[in-house]
Amino acid sequence: MPDIWKLKDKNFDKFIVNDDIQAKVSELAIRINKELEGIKPLFVVVLNGAFIFASDLLKKVTIDCEIAFVKLSSYQGTQSSGVVQQIIGLDLDIKGRTIVVIEDIVDTGLTLERFRKTLREMEPAEVRIATCLLKPDAFKNKFPIDYKCFSIPNEFVVGYGLDYDGLGRNSSDIYKIVEG
Ligand code: IMP
Repeated sequence: MPDIWKLKDKNFDKFIVNDDIQAKVSELAIRINKELEGIKPLFVVVLNGAFIFASDLLKKVTIDCEIAFVKLSSYQGTQSSGVVQQIIGLDLDIKGRTIVVIEDIVDTGLTLERFRKTLREMEPAEVRIATCLLKPDAFKNKFPIDYKCFSIPNEFVVGYGLDYDGLGRNSSDIYKIVEG
């Protein structure tokens, strides 16, 4: 991919190259292999964005584990509680299991906050979070992020699974929006 990438009406600058991503992913896999050995965790990959990160990470995870894929869809509920979240695809019994949710990016954390709550109702032993990217200024430490590759500024990024209006997922590098 070029150093400056035009997607629709926006330009994006190369930001994190794949070699740097792979180095962080390897470090993370080593930690996971150590910390979750013998526990047989269930990795829950949140589609669509996490597909490349999850693929790279899980190829380096060597302990016994299971992998499931979910899509989260939100809709406005009829009650005053507002947005309701539906999990599509999680057809396993997770009671008593150690769950590791794999996300592409945690921005405000609101999507994940609701997902954690829904998972908790299914009585897992624990829910850990693994994300490739974290925007700490937007997230403000709402809950623990157990595994992360990079903290980034509060700016829009694409590539490595992340999209801008459906485009840009197919890059092995991460790009950052050029403002103005
Ligand atoms: P939240 O604000 O943490 O709930 O983020 C929800 C979702 O928004 C993430 O899982 C991403 O799919 C998407 N998102 C957040 N920030 C970015 C970004 O910089 N680029 C592309 N997608 C993003």
